[in-house]
Amino acid sequence: MISSDEVLVGYDYDAWYGYKEKIPVCLDASIQNNTQTLICGMSGSGKSYLTNQYFARICLHGGIDSKVYFADFKQDDSFSHLRECPRYYPYDRTPDALDEVYEIMHKRQCGEDTSRHFVTLVWDEYMANILSLLGTDKKKAESVMHKVSEILMLGRSLSIRLIIVCQRPDAQAFPTGSRLNFGIIIIVGAALESIYSMLMPKELIEKVGNREFHTGEGIMLWQGSELHFIKVPLLRNEERMKAICIDALTR
Ligand SMILES: Nc1ncnc2c1ncn2[C@@H]1O[C@H](COP(=O)(O)OP(=O)(O)OP(=O)(O)O)[C@@H](O)[C@H]1O
Ligand SMILES: [Mg+2]
Repeated sequence: MISSDEVLVGYDYDAWYGYKEKIPVCLDASIQNNTQTLICGMSGSGKSYLTNQYFARICLHGGIDSKVYFADFKQDDSFSHLRECPRYYPYDRTPDALDEVYEIMHKRQCGEDTSRHFVTLVWDEYMANILSLLGTDKKKAESVMHKVSEILMLGRSLSIRLIIVCQRPDAQAFPTGSRLNFGIIIIVGAALESIYSMLMPKELIEKVGNREFHTGEGIMLWQGSELHFIKVPLLRNEERMKAICIDALTR
């Protein structure tokens, strides 16, 4: 039985392949937990595919009062259904989504806004976006990174969260060590030592053993300590997923 705060991330990898059994791997998305989320993996590892379904479940969990924003630097085909939504921010507008969310956090911090419904910003291709900004407008890039870091460090108790998606989360894009503030880390695809060692202690990397992850398979690290092996399912009802996301980005 899945409780109302539980959000499905995928199915247990070992049970799926070992016994052909579908055992849900869920996380508890209630406010007391740190649900700042990092999704990474190499190109083609299934990040955007997972992001769509994870985002839909986060929208459903947050309920009618929650507010979501979507920043899509690449304007990926995976998110083409979102293009007409008012809170969808493509390419060079991604920092505007961050500004909106940062402003809400600030108002909550100073007591001007006492509401605590969830505010979630998904940001696909975050790292590529930062590198591009660093090349064109260094000041802007630094301001963006500063705001992201602040949300990662202070957002939880104010119900403000980020879902950051990128290939390799280099420390350069997360000043003052804010990369350590993700309560949920998902790495899909091949177990590249370089990404694993950025995000996991050696003892946990060893637990991966000889598992060979393909597209849509990998690990989820919960609150820095609990390691799960996951298989992201193919969606049976893609139209429903799209409708949930469109509705949440519009209402
Ligand atoms: N869980 C899954 N099961 C089966 N196929 C999948 C799964 N996830 C992704 N795929 C397929 O793999 C391909 C690549 O997926 P996706 O675009 O999500 O990768 P990505 O990591 O976002 O890549 P990029 O970094 O280039 O944006 C897609 O064609 C998608 O349909
Ligand atoms: Mg992608």
